[in-house]
Amino acid sequence: MSMKAVILIGGKGTRLRPFTIDTPKPLLPVLNRPFLHYQFEILKAHGIKDVVLCTSYQSEAFRRSLGTGAAQGLRLKYVVERDPLGTGGALKNAQALLAPGEPFLVLNGDVLNTLDITAFLKQHRKLRAAVTIALTRVKDPTLYGLVKTDDGGRIKEFIEKPSWDEIESNTINAGAYIFDPETLAHIPRGVPFSLERQLFPHLLSHEGRVFSFVSTGYWIDIGTIERYRQVHMDILAGQTPFSAAGRKTGRLLLGPGVKLGKDLSFGGGAGQVVLGSGVSVGDFARFSGSVCVGPRCSVGKGAWLSDCVVLEGTKIGDGARLERCVIGAGCRIGAQAALTENTALAGGSEVRSFSVL
Ligand code: GDD
Ligand code: MG
Repeated sequence: MSMKAVILIGGKGTRLRPFTIDTPKPLLPVLNRPFLHYQFEILKAHGIKDVVLCTSYQSEAFRRSLGTGAAQGLRLKYVVERDPLGTGGALKNAQALLAPGEPFLVLNGDVLNTLDITAFLKQHRKLRAAVTIALTRVKDPTLYGLVKTDDGGRIKEFIEKPSWDEIESNTINAGAYIFDPETLAHIPRGVPFSLERQLFPHLLSHEGRVFSFVSTGYWIDIGTIERYRQVHMDILAGQTPFSAAGRKTGRLLLGPGVKLGKDLSFGGGAGQVVLGSGVSVGDFARFSGSVCVGPRCSVGKGAWLSDCVVLEGTKIGDGARLERCVIGAGCRIGAQAALTENTALAGGSEVRSFSVL
């Protein structure tokens, strides 16, 4: 497929602080690989190789990490907004890099969605849509863009972050669109503009051909700490087509150079435990559910890790307990400290022995 893709990655990721202070959200590691690599795999599976990245916040970090895209088998181009221009302004900026007359795909850079892009494009062409919006179903639409359609799948209303009294269905904007290039004429250049709050309502009030494509695959927006942790758990529980890298032994997936102590134990259901390259684990450490430990971390003797994510270079003291939490890179967690559910420890933090957080 020669369709080009645009990925919107210029947001500040405020709901994922403190982790997005050090790394922009689309580059945060998910199972020790930058999140965007998963989106790239889905694009490549549908033959898409040309990708425009619309950056703003920490734009240099993307160039450093992803470069030309050659290592991923892609051709990446970058557009930079000096001040964030919103999702619409960002897209308008990419216009010069898109093929004239050809429909193109747009993705939010923080969504993992096993979307059938080939079928999505086929439907878009067949219905001669101005925009086709992929939809998914969620329990709480107030956090997303609510989409109301008619029986033929034509979109009637788009309400970004609706209140509960506006909700009649559970179908939301999955953060993936196919655009007819002419639709970009409705977006002003160089000023802040929102696809969700301005372009879509404008098109709908002018009888624009805006259609929906219901995606039934796995879907998650990793934009909160809870969901960032959850995507790890879901992949490790086998709920997606993705898997973590590593040599598999029992419930462990081991990176190169991992050192394991004796008498490790595993409990809490089926999950998997990923230990990144160079991790060392002390004797009698215990793992429960699914756990991801970043490269060069160390896990002390008798420490207990349950359904948690630990970023690279963190040292976990003897007997420390980490439960359903996310720990930033380069932290020092003292012996016997207890980090309980929903703890989000900023990179470089020091937690003294016996602390309870
Ligand atoms: N370049 C650029 N410039 N990118 C931006 C800007 C900007 O000013 N603002 C946001 N983005 C990028 C973010 O980096 C992110 O990848 C994507 O656009 C969506 O922004 P979020 O801040 O994550 O939005 P949201 O999750 O609250 O809502 C959006 O996604 C939902 C699905 O996950 C909306 O599109 C909703 O309608 C949708 O349901
Ligand atoms: Mg989001």
